[in-house]
Amino acid sequence: MNKSRENWLGKVAVVTGGGSGLGRELALCCARKGMHVVLADMNEAGMGETVTRIQALAPTVRTLIRTVDVSSLEQMQNLATTTMEEFGGVHLLFNNAGVGVKAAPIWEYTLDDWQWVTNINIYGVAWGVKAFVPIMLEQNDGHIVNTASAAGWLNGPASGVYNVSKCGVVALSESLLMDLRDAQTTIGVSVLCPAFFASAIADCEANRPDDLSNTAPDTSIGRQRSEEVKFAMTRGRKSAADIAAITFAGIEAEQFYIFPHSKIKSLILGRAEALQRDEAFNTLEGRGS
Ligand SMILES: NC(=O)c1ccc[n+]([C@@H]2O[C@H](COP(=O)([O-])OP(=O)(O)OC[C@H]3O[C@@H](n4cnc5c(N)ncnc54)[C@H](O)[C@@H]3O)[C@@H](O)[C@H]2O)c1
Repeated sequence: MNKSRENWLGKVAVVTGGGSGLGRELALCCARKGMHVVLADMNEAGMGETVTRIQALAPTVRTLIRTVDVSSLEQMQNLATTTMEEFGGVHLLFNNAGVGVKAAPIWEYTLDDWQWVTNINIYGVAWGVKAFVPIMLEQNDGHIVNTASAAGWLNGPASGVYNVSKCGVVALSESLLMDLRDAQTTIGVSVLCPAFFASAIADCEANRPDDLSNTAPDTSIGRQRSEEVKFAMTRGRKSAADIAAITFAGIEAEQFYIFPHSKIKSLILGRAEALQRDEAFNTLEGRGS
């Protein structure tokens, strides 16, 4: 697929988690390219704010807001149906919605912690793929971007549930790439692996559903790690807008792995070298963005 500037005009992007942070910035990038934008999020006010910003910078772009829980296959399939009814196609899908969970040793995480994070961070991406890839196959056109994380490769302490979920997104994306090659399509895939950047994710526990609210107990090491993560996020050298712009350039270059923070790649090489030496890799040496 030729992804030149002209080819985005009038095409359709779907962005999960488009009501905040990186999802909002990805939506704004799409609008700047002249794409129509479908936002899917649980955060209605946030989606409203994204639409206001889109209208200010690209008044001719059409937008659609849908309150969707990405962890529900049915809701994601309804989103795909509505998108087709309203726009007749979908050309870019950002499976971006995600949550973090309080810092804790991995043995302290509860069943609710595992279910809440897995439902959104892994199933949310899986259902996006399941609902939208058949449409893209039919069109023989489209590109999917799954937001993983540097944590999909470098497993820091006190965030085991999140790390596992993001490793899952990397595995899902690599599997998708292979399966699309087998299917001999021109549909593209990218897996986005940012390090820390400032966003609302540190406060997302407030949006946990009541039936999954039982979380790990507070520990002093958990509190310390949590403060470190918050500090790293506020000090992230790249903003969500920077990462969105890098992502779009990566899509246009048909890049599969997108690492907005180049340091992460060298840390992954360090991990591979440790593996060659049969040593465990210490992610704490060189953590952050
Ligand atoms: N901020 C970071 O440091 C960082 C680093 C690496 C990866 N990421 C990933 O980037 C992605 C975007 O996160 P962000 O940092 O912009 O956070 P954010 O909290 O600002 O935005 C995430 C959005 O996802 C939405 N969301 C959460 N659960 C949902 C659900 N069940 N259904 C639909 N929408 C849901 C939220 O309402 C929110 O609008 C996530 O996948 C996150 O894991 C973030």
